[in-house]
Amino acid sequence: MGPLNSVCSAHSIAGTFPSGDAADLASPEKRKPQRPRPAAPHPPERPQQLLSLLWTLNKNPLEAWPRHHYEESIVVGETFLGRFAMVNAPDAIRQVLVDDCESYRKDDLQNLLLKPALGNGLLTTSGSEWRIQRRAFAPAFSPRNVASYAPAMWQEARALSDRWMSLDGSIIDVCEQMARTMLDTLSKTLFSRGIGRDPDEFRSAATRYFETQGRIDPLDLIGAPAWIPRVGRLLSRPALKFFPKVVEAILSERRGAARFSKSGADADFVDILFNTRDDESGDHLSDTEIAANIITFIGAGFETPANALSWTFYLLSIDEEWREKVEREVDQLLAEGISFSAVPEEFVVTRALIEEAMRLYPPVAILSRSATRDHDLRGHTIREGTTVIISPWVLHRHRLLWDAPDRFDPAKFMPENRGRIPRYTYIPFGAGPRVCIGGAYAMQQMTATIAMIVRSFRLDLASGHKVMPVHRVTLRPEGGMKMRLTRRR
Ligand code: HEM
Repeated sequence: MGPLNSVCSAHSIAGTFPSGDAADLASPEKRKPQRPRPAAPHPPERPQQLLSLLWTLNKNPLEAWPRHHYEESIVVGETFLGRFAMVNAPDAIRQVLVDDCESYRKDDLQNLLLKPALGNGLLTTSGSEWRIQRRAFAPAFSPRNVASYAPAMWQEARALSDRWMSLDGSIIDVCEQMARTMLDTLSKTLFSRGIGRDPDEFRSAATRYFETQGRIDPLDLIGAPAWIPRVGRLLSRPALKFFPKVVEAILSERRGAARFSKSGADADFVDILFNTRDDESGDHLSDTEIAANIITFIGAGFETPANALSWTFYLLSIDEEWREKVEREVDQLLAEGISFSAVPEEFVVTRALIEEAMRLYPPVAILSRSATRDHDLRGHTIREGTTVIISPWVLHRHRLLWDAPDRFDPAKFMPENRGRIPRYTYIPFGAGPRVCIGGAYAMQQMTATIAMIVRSFRLDLASGHKVMPVHRVTLRPEGGMKMRLTRRR
């Protein structure tokens, strides 16, 4: 773990990237009115001592990264847990995730948090099992298939907007509302015959899982034996009992259907799971692999875009200028009578807004790997077993890589500026062979949802609601996102 260098000797090398906050002080940019600075914990000046660090990691790991992690390209250290490397240099990130990815595997802590629910699904599996699954599932996310989901995405976004019409002036939890819409969309696209159970039940179970099992347990960090009970794991049991019921409901619905599994153009994701075969052995996926992937794709498919959207609406609420820009774009494009069979590329302001929201609040805040052999990483010796951490949260706010990194300014993602962002400095969907399989699906769905909502509503933070990001497997707003809904038309 990167922030654990309270008890280690850490050293680093500075990068060669242009201006950060310091250079920014002198730039003409600074003389312009300051852009808003959205909610974020202040990094500690110095690494914490062991006990307070264990406490922080359990409470909110975002608060554990010390300031120098945001200022140095690579921080390597030794902790009571072993060696770690926190990597923020784009060329080193490329080496880990792309060029030399065979030298890394997903690390144990990540598996500890995710495997109880996700088993050996695409996100958590590795080696040949991962390769077979990835190759088989890729067609469901081809550009043509993602485009074919657009009508369902618009339809669900419109259904949400229709539900909100009677809620004018009410306080709503945007996280809950977005989660519901993302699950409804999954029920019309990848899981075309529903997700087996009530989406609200699924959302509550998933939230419970993230809040319990998703907390880093100090006992795991100090390597305590597995037989010592972990509070989080005990509390996550009801959720863990619920997920197999979802799988069973989906499978029994298919068993009752005239044709158990379709192939070709009509096949949805569950059909693909049934039809997947290993090219060499001809074996189908096992029942446990099918179950694991049903939960993986529902879980990954709703939680991350729902969080990204909640952050996006929060950011719009704190910046009148960008709110008006997005409203203008949406009003104009929707008035032109767009085709709801596609999400037009012309939503450039909306997309820039979403990208900036995922820079400031990357739904997946940490990608961690374990080195499988000794090697060199940009002048650092990485030994087998070293935990290599790439944190989109830290990377996207890094002082060497971004101007005014903590400020909200979607302009950097507008077409005229986008090309200036160097590769591997912005990786909300990861990179390399294990890049998010659902990235294009998510971008399309988020764009349609924002367009439909912005067309008819404004959302403002409920008075007294304090916003703070917390890292629990995904990056979520602590206590939800309570906002007041006002109709625009
Ligand atoms: C805003 C939305 C999303 C974000 C920010 C996001 C982010 C990510 C990231 C960073 C990874 C790579 C993790 C790593 O390298 O350790 C990943 C992997 C994955 N994502 Fe997403 N994701 C999003 C939406 C989705 C959706 C909609 C789905 C499915 C419908 C999905 C399914 C997956 C799966 C199955 C993997 C594992 C891929 C593999 O290892 O081959 N994600 N996601």
